[in-house]
Amino acid sequence: MQAVPVLPHRIRWSAATAAFQVEGARAEGGRGRSVWDAWVDTPGKVVDGATAEPGPDSYHRWTDDVALAAGLGLDRYRFSISWTRVQPDGSGAPCAAGLDYYSRLVDDLLAAGVTPFPTLYHWDLPIPLHEAGGWTVRDIVGRFTDYADTVAQRLGDRVENWYTVNEPAMTTLEGYAIGSLAPGESLLFDALPTAHHQLLAHGRAARVLREHGAQAVGVANNHTRVLGLRDTAADAAAVAAYDAIHNRVFADPILTGAYPDLPGIDVSMPIVDGDMEVISTPPDFYAINFYNPTTVTAPGPDNPIPFEIVPTPGAPVTGFGDEWPIVPSALRDLLVGFVERYPNLPPVVISENGASFPEPDTCDGPIDDADRIAYLDGHLRAIGEAMSAGVRVDEYTVWSLLDNFEWADGYTQRFGLAHVDFASARRTPKSSYDWYRRVIAQNRA
Ligand code: NOJ
Repeated sequence: MQAVPVLPHRIRWSAATAAFQVEGARAEGGRGRSVWDAWVDTPGKVVDGATAEPGPDSYHRWTDDVALAAGLGLDRYRFSISWTRVQPDGSGAPCAAGLDYYSRLVDDLLAAGVTPFPTLYHWDLPIPLHEAGGWTVRDIVGRFTDYADTVAQRLGDRVENWYTVNEPAMTTLEGYAIGSLAPGESLLFDALPTAHHQLLAHGRAARVLREHGAQAVGVANNHTRVLGLRDTAADAAAVAAYDAIHNRVFADPILTGAYPDLPGIDVSMPIVDGDMEVISTPPDFYAINFYNPTTVTAPGPDNPIPFEIVPTPGAPVTGFGDEWPIVPSALRDLLVGFVERYPNLPPVVISENGASFPEPDTCDGPIDDADRIAYLDGHLRAIGEAMSAGVRVDEYTVWSLLDNFEWADGYTQRFGLAHVDFASARRTPKSSYDWYRRVIAQNRA
């Protein structure tokens, strides 16, 4: 058996889920509807017509999730709070049943010795807010701040660490620009204001959370290392363009207080005086969700988009095929590149990292997910190399604690350390669960 990776410094260990992906019970507890409810209820939007119900059924089985988290020896558990359980219409009086559910989850985690690290917004935008313009309009910022205040009033006595918004890049690029995720808009570059509104919502919510005693607040940004297919000036320009739109639009405002130039893209951000100060209030940590690098090349003639995404040559792939190449060194390079680009980078939290591989729907015992172990092992060693090169990493989070609803891919992509039989919601730890438990124990020794 290969020795587990041991990092050069002690870090905190975590695993993650998100409300819509694990809870099920979409019509229970007074919950309202989000853009993802509309999406799964529209035929043809999700592979196999999966509706995210019952899924792992964590609304009823959260104690099983707490037991899985505690069994790993996690320091922290990252879960998300559903806006539609707390404010069913996205504004106004809170729903007691929704807040009670998260309050119980927090209490049970704390009793099990696991620190709760919730995300306020993991893509489940309440329908009435979407109908009012969603993230394209500035009004959403006030709504989100009010929601943050509502949650913090109830949980702020026990929760000190918060993620505000998960992967604003995916919401902007896939939700609003190309429409491959809810709410399914195809605005192309006119989607960019949704980036500003999400970042501003983060900044304002962070202030409110701190007023309620929060110690650490951050955005969980999705970042990718961008590689050029060829060593040409045209491909270098494509790399710069994709890096700007996927990475820098979401990192620069937080870490430098300004948006990057977007050559050839004629959209201005809806900035009002004071916004950039709010967004760039020095964060307590900088959170990165990392899965894979992205290879780009120069676009063909007449393409309005200044890059074209292509498969990464020679890389092994996950269950998503060549959309998700496996290149652990890309995480090391990304982290080292971040320190070079942002000299005042705060401690990094890896807020998601993991992979899906084809696995059976049912199992009689632990699934031997050697591919997942190799993926996680490689990425942890890459983090260790980045740490040795001077990057301060304080926390690592596996996506995901258990198999769950993978958005437009439904139940066809399994990311869990624990297998879930979606017919019975039974959880069975995989080999990677045991491996991660050993990683955590060894790194504490
Ligand atoms: C990032 C997202 O935050 C999460 O919801 C998703 O399941 C994973 N990536 C895997 O695609």
